[in-house]
Amino acid sequence: MLLEQPGRLGALRLKNRVVMAPMGTNYSTTDGLSTERDKQYYAERARGGVAMIMTEAMVVTEHARPHHNSLCCYHDRYIPGLASLVEAIKAHDCKVFGQLNHRGALLRRSVLNMEPVGPSPWVNPNTGDQVRALEPREIKDIQALFVDAARRLWVAGYDGVEIHAANGYLFQQFFSPRVNHRTDEYGGSIENRMRFLLETIDRMRDALPDLHLIVRLSVSEFAQGGYSESEIIQLALALEQAGVHALDLSGGSNESPQLSKHCIQPPSFPRAYLADFARPIKQAVGIPVLAAGRLVEPADAEHMLSTGSADFVSLGRALYADPHWCLKAFGKIQAPIRQCIACNVCFERLTLEKDVACVTNPLIGTEFESLEHAEPQLFRQTSATGKRVLVLGAGIAGMEAARVLAGRGHVVEVWDKAASPGGQVHLAIAAPDKKEVFPAWTYRWLSASREAVPVRLETEAARDSIEAFAPDFILLATGARPGPVPMDISRLSPAIRVTHAWEALASLEDIPAGISATIIGGGMVGAEVADALRLKGASINLVELRPEIALGMARNNRFELIERLIAHGVRILTNCKIKGIHGAQLDIEQEGQGPSRLAIGRMLIFATGPRPNLEALQMVQSTNIPYARIGDCNMPGDFLSALRDASMTALSLDAYAARKVSGRSAMQTAA
Ligand SMILES: Cc1cc2nc3c(=O)[nH]c(=O)nc-3n(C[C@H](O)[C@H](O)[C@H](O)COP(=O)(O)O)c2cc1C
Ligand code: SF4
Repeated sequence: MLLEQPGRLGALRLKNRVVMAPMGTNYSTTDGLSTERDKQYYAERARGGVAMIMTEAMVVTEHARPHHNSLCCYHDRYIPGLASLVEAIKAHDCKVFGQLNHRGALLRRSVLNMEPVGPSPWVNPNTGDQVRALEPREIKDIQALFVDAARRLWVAGYDGVEIHAANGYLFQQFFSPRVNHRTDEYGGSIENRMRFLLETIDRMRDALPDLHLIVRLSVSEFAQGGYSESEIIQLALALEQAGVHALDLSGGSNESPQLSKHCIQPPSFPRAYLADFARPIKQAVGIPVLAAGRLVEPADAEHMLSTGSADFVSLGRALYADPHWCLKAFGKIQAPIRQCIACNVCFERLTLEKDVACVTNPLIGTEFESLEHAEPQLFRQTSATGKRVLVLGAGIAGMEAARVLAGRGHVVEVWDKAASPGGQVHLAIAAPDKKEVFPAWTYRWLSASREAVPVRLETEAARDSIEAFAPDFILLATGARPGPVPMDISRLSPAIRVTHAWEALASLEDIPAGISATIIGGGMVGAEVADALRLKGASINLVELRPEIALGMARNNRFELIERLIAHGVRILTNCKIKGIHGAQLDIEQEGQGPSRLAIGRMLIFATGPRPNLEALQMVQSTNIPYARIGDCNMPGDFLSALRDASMTALSLDAYAARKVSGRSAMQTAA
């Protein structure tokens, strides 16, 4: 495997070709100090086998903070925390670089009242904030801030520094002819647009001659009027000439979801998306090139190397999803990789100022994220407290709990009424672009199968069969079911077929091509049903009470979906109240418009909230065996909530067992 080969970066020897991409976490304190939490998060990824970690974008001035809890590096007080972080990473034979950034025009007033500044007056397209053009004196000051921050990283023990000149931030803003309209020595010709970055590098190299330096660039802005391929190659060559040790290639600009999808790609984008864009740059320079972008499985990463597109792969979300990706890819531990499903919930959370979480990795950012907890079967001793656990429901939550419990030495069985396992997973992958979600399920299924967990399908749980199995604990993971129709449809024409979104997704092949349909509820599920019907040439109305559709979806993915729906001619009615149903029409009232009527078409689909499926609850309670509800049968939500419920509850079972708690209230969640 090329990925396993050692490589050189300047004077550094990297033990393999896998580098962890810089990714914000919001795990530091509100003052920007490194915490035990980010130490554990990074150390686990170092332990997982990557050759080098690029810590997340760090703040070089208190006037340019991107998030409430991002790591900062603008004062010497940050050095002890960073030194301790470096030590934790290096303990695993892993190199560490720190990324330094200034967001410039993409600073947000809504976050700590940061003032957006850039090469020229502009409007931050994300927020509408006015951008003030920097004075030449301020440019020099910012260069000095970068040098000071680099010195702190050097003192803290970092092997090197990465300057973030990609993804639409300040350095890219200066390089972009689209954004930079200056008429002084920092604008106009390409030499002038490169000047801000090249001067910063000169100053850094003068101050810290032994420092290893990488620059991150976007291969393209993917925007009209952005820099050209020949210009980015010219910049790459100038950076090499300036003594930079490597280039790290990304794409796009985080100024809008339409452009940031080229940086943090949705599932509709091909794997190894940036390979073809990176190759000409790599071929032009002699220094090593790192490249990121939808490298999900080892084969994607191998493709980057074998096609000559990069010397090192930069893995981002793949390592949120599975810190032990390398150990698994290299066969050093025998367990399936927990694959990133490109849902972009991680990024969405950061944008919303939450800490990073991962849908398929429920332990990220918690003190439980170690190999021992994530893959307990690798460490199993026959547990003295080994308990018999019955899991009712073979959906994603049930199977996650089952694999963790079996791995920890408990005797587990899974029962499900259905003829096939998976619960609602099949619905989750029915919409276009959702195939990538499937690995969230296969990882659980494969892991439980390797543990030989018995899964009894078409098995109705009854009191006597449960008592015969004699479990110490029961986990109810029976999922959710469609909620009742939320309005009076007694006057609806009988010619119109009424169905729930889940039923529609489950039987797409039975829906005639070109059908006309109205979907009530434009949340994520309603929008996905519209997307699926679009492919059948349907003419669709999508009616939503709130001001926007697909609000539960991460924005990079959501904007893509909305663009597809609009291009197909889906009629999207937001801020729209339904007043009644008569015959073949809906009485509606859209905000700012008077009452009107909408022809429903041949199908009326309700994409309105599901309810927990509690049909087995009373019977389980009657056994007086301790139980807990997990996943949708606890509270309908998403994979993230289902998997967190499942893994945390499974991990808590040993504590219950140790305390010898009896009676059904021991693990009961709110009924
Ligand atoms: C939540 C999140 C935070 C990110 N933060 C940064 C960052 O601080 N600096 C940076 O250069 N790129 C950042 N990125 C981009 C990644 O480094 C990477 O280039 C991108 O996610 C594509 O690679 P992947 O498909 O392997 O995730 C971030 C990505 C995500 C998902
Ligand atoms: S949250 Fe989604 S996109 Fe982000 S790493 Fe996890 S699976 Fe991948």
